[in-house]
Amino acid sequence: DPELVATGERVFKKCQACHQVGDGAKNKTGPILNGVVGRDIASVDGFNYSGAMEGMDGVWDSEALHAFLAKPRDYVKGTKMAFAGLRKPEEIDAVIEYLKAHP
Ligand code: HEM
Repeated sequence: DPELVATGERVFKKCQACHQVGDGAKNKTGPILNGVVGRDIASVDGFNYSGAMEGMDGVWDSEALHAFLAKPRDYVKGTKMAFAGLRKPEEIDAVIEYLKAHP
């Protein structure tokens, strides 16, 4: 849904202080998010994750991303992602679609 992706691009502005996606994306304060949907948690080479995130098993599927992005510090106790979370479920849906569009 291109409209949802476009909304997600606007929501992603809240993430851009720390994360990059797309061609030439680099790790910054946060890891590169290309291909994050379906990716193993804490698996970007060369990124220094918190012990909390490093110690998690699993994959960033839509469900896990939903829970994490609503309340990062509740979903991953001890995460160093200094972000309060997205309040609106529809913003979370949109940003996940935007991330899916950057495999
Ligand atoms: C980790 C998404 C905002 C800093 C992550 C991860 C995701 C994510 C999916 C896990 C990546 C992985 O396992 O490789 C987002 C989205 C954001 C956002 C969609 C906006 C809605 C931010 C902001 C910051 C930030 C604003 C900085 C203030 C970090 C850091 C990590 C991280 C440092 C690693 C966490 C750890 O090692 O505990 N983010 N993020 N993120 N993000 Fe964000």
